[in-house]
Amino acid sequence: MVSPLVFAFLFSWAAVGLVAAEKSDFCLSEIVKSDERIRSHGYPAESHEVITEDGYELTLFRIPYSHKLKNQNERRPPVLLQHGLFSNSDCFLTSGPDNSLAYLLADAGYDVWLGNARGNIYSRANGQISLNSHKFWHFDWHEIGTIDVAAMIDYILEETDFPKVHYAGHSQGTTVYLVLLSERPEYNDKIATGHLLAPCAFFEHGTSFVFNALGPLVGTPGGIWNQLLVDTELIPHNNLVNRLVDNGCHLSESICKNAFVMFANGGYENANASSMLVLIETHPAGSSSNQGIHYLQLWESHEFRQYDWGTKKNIEIYGQELPPEYDLSKITAQTHSYSSHNDALCGPEDVDTLVSRFTHLTEDHRVPVQSFNHLDFIIAKNMKELINDPIIERINKYEGR
Ligand SMILES: *[C@@H]1O[C@H](CO)[C@@H](O)[C@H](O)[C@H]1NC(C)=O
Repeated sequence: MVSPLVFAFLFSWAAVGLVAAEKSDFCLSEIVKSDERIRSHGYPAESHEVITEDGYELTLFRIPYSHKLKNQNERRPPVLLQHGLFSNSDCFLTSGPDNSLAYLLADAGYDVWLGNARGNIYSRANGQISLNSHKFWHFDWHEIGTIDVAAMIDYILEETDFPKVHYAGHSQGTTVYLVLLSERPEYNDKIATGHLLAPCAFFEHGTSFVFNALGPLVGTPGGIWNQLLVDTELIPHNNLVNRLVDNGCHLSESICKNAFVMFANGGYENANASSMLVLIETHPAGSSSNQGIHYLQLWESHEFRQYDWGTKKNIEIYGQELPPEYDLSKITAQTHSYSSHNDALCGPEDVDTLVSRFTHLTEDHRVPVQSFNHLDFIIAKNMKELINDPIIERINKYEGR
């Protein structure tokens, strides 16, 4: 059970976030950015800008090679890592060179690219639309998949002159992969191997209190809450929100873990507390309310389908009353799923549904540790052995290494 205190904490966090969004007092120069973080560990780092067809300016960070291997002149197949909701490229870095996936891949001889979805702290500009306009926030993970990830993949292939890229995504980073490859199947040929950590597509059995608390309010289209919340920034990164979380975490580890309770069924046995503290420096990272609303719609409908605008607008946009489903049978790229028992958002039964619809899924891996939860895929003390090493092994196998 979730205590009322945690409820109060989370709601005030969200409320303060929504109010503070208007002020937008966040300043990028005050944080340690991914490229600086990478350099501080001795690795080379680059920052690239990708402009999407609809004007969003996305930042891709890159670890081009490993200073330990001095392999800058060798063949280095590219890998794209894509973060989850409320997150950014730092999520693949915060456990440091001995444990986080980005560094381990660089040390295994790969050219590592870290994506950032529109709306997060590293991708908050659009040449045509002001950040303070509702129009800027008129998107959800459908666009992140079909436009942002597609643009990042094309950019990487162009820059590196490779025909395919390896992909690993966490949480929403898996949703956008499924969306892209089912909606634009021609991108299957651009993927060497795909690795889905805590894959999120179906939410029928989601046990997180977030679903029960917010699902009925905003999960169905047309309601007042929906009207109020659509096209706004959701839990932005700003000084006020950040200070609340940061102080909470320094005050007590349990408050900190409770702030993340929505991702786990209560337990944080595997979490690396130091890594969590680093993570919080740049999280929550900013996203559109529509991303959250769209997920809640999936929880309500039990389907993996496009955003529900209500019957009238659906007919206008999609030519049918209900939003079209994502056809997972169109995904043919070699894809591995990694999921865990204690995931309160995308738990084992919903992964069963995903696997049953994902006809060409290569392998369905279930983490053998019962307490492993949704966030453990990026911050657990034991994620190297359980997740990251196996990913690299499979990528190596593909590359004949
Ligand atoms: C835990 O996180 C810290 C901070 O990034 C890192 O230095 C350490 O190596 C990590 N340990 C494990 C086992 O993940």
